[in-house]
Amino acid sequence: MAATGRLLNKLFSLESDIAVVTGALGRLGSVWIEALLEAGARVFALDLPGTPVSEDFLGLQARFDETHLRLQRTDIRERAVLEEACEACMATLGVPSILVNNAGIDRPPASTETGYRLEDIPLEENREILEVNTLGLFLTSQVFGKPMLRAGHGSIINIGSLYAGVSPDVRFYDHIQDDPPFIKPPAYGASKAAVVNLTRYLATHWAPHGVRVNALSPGGVLGGQDEIFRAKFCHRVPMGRMAVNHDLCGPLLFLASGASSYVTGTELVVDGGFTAW
Ligand SMILES: NC(=O)c1ccc[n+]([C@@H]2O[C@H](COP(=O)([O-])OP(=O)(O)OC[C@H]3O[C@@H](n4cnc5c(N)ncnc54)[C@H](O)[C@@H]3O)[C@@H](O)[C@H]2O)c1
Repeated sequence: MAATGRLLNKLFSLESDIAVVTGALGRLGSVWIEALLEAGARVFALDLPGTPVSEDFLGLQARFDETHLRLQRTDIRERAVLEEACEACMATLGVPSILVNNAGIDRPPASTETGYRLEDIPLEENREILEVNTLGLFLTSQVFGKPMLRAGHGSIINIGSLYAGVSPDVRFYDHIQDDPPFIKPPAYGASKAAVVNLTRYLATHWAPHGVRVNALSPGGVLGGQDEIFRAKFCHRVPMGRMAVNHDLCGPLLFLASGASSYVTGTELVVDGGFTAW
């Protein structure tokens, strides 16, 4: 039994890893970062200039010093800025061996003053989402993938979404009194579907060089959603609930660590069974 325990600890250990996480100051950023730090990795965190440091991230900074956790302001749409960040990561923590492409844009209900009917959504709204969620993710993979390829070793985890595979159910939002009625931006699911395919593309190119690339697609994560939404959403999930932070950590550590050493080009869907029926 003790030998099995040691094997398990070793399989999931990230003691010698340097992990880069984008979108570090958002809702899920700290969830991924805490899991990586707890597994022994050192973390180089990226987020946009001007994004306030979240309470959760402050909590992590209080627990882990700068030899374990660093934050660098970086817009993932800009190659030169990403290259600077990569240099800074190597100079301070070391060569990155894990990349969590987590930065993303969505438009939750009531996040903007103006809603649109599907026929009238300006292209700009879609363009910005695609630029960050898909192209920014690609650029980040190019820049941080390079040192991984040189080292012959790395794991890239692209954060997808339930909506990479299915369209949002508009009935989840039909209690919201908006005119025009709220709809999720069409580019969101499209950008995430593109992420899943890009994952396969990168995985096939980089597999011979020791770099694995997988997607992790969460279902709805419990956050500030209203009660009626939650009830409708949970009714639609075989497990009867939304994801909580803890549900996401195991899948991330699996993909980041040697526990998934023969897994590449796959999409790990963590949705409580939402897409199973
Ligand atoms: N929260 C959920 O329920 C859920 C479900 C499925 C998938 N996801 C995905 O998980 C990821 C994180 O979601 P979240 O809920 O934490 O979102 P969030 O909006 O709370 O955080 C996103 C972070 O990305 C950063 N960001 C945006 N544009 C950037 C850019 N150009 N450069 C660098 N950083 C940028 C933002 O500043 C923000 O801190 C996203 O990719 C999202 O699509 C979330």
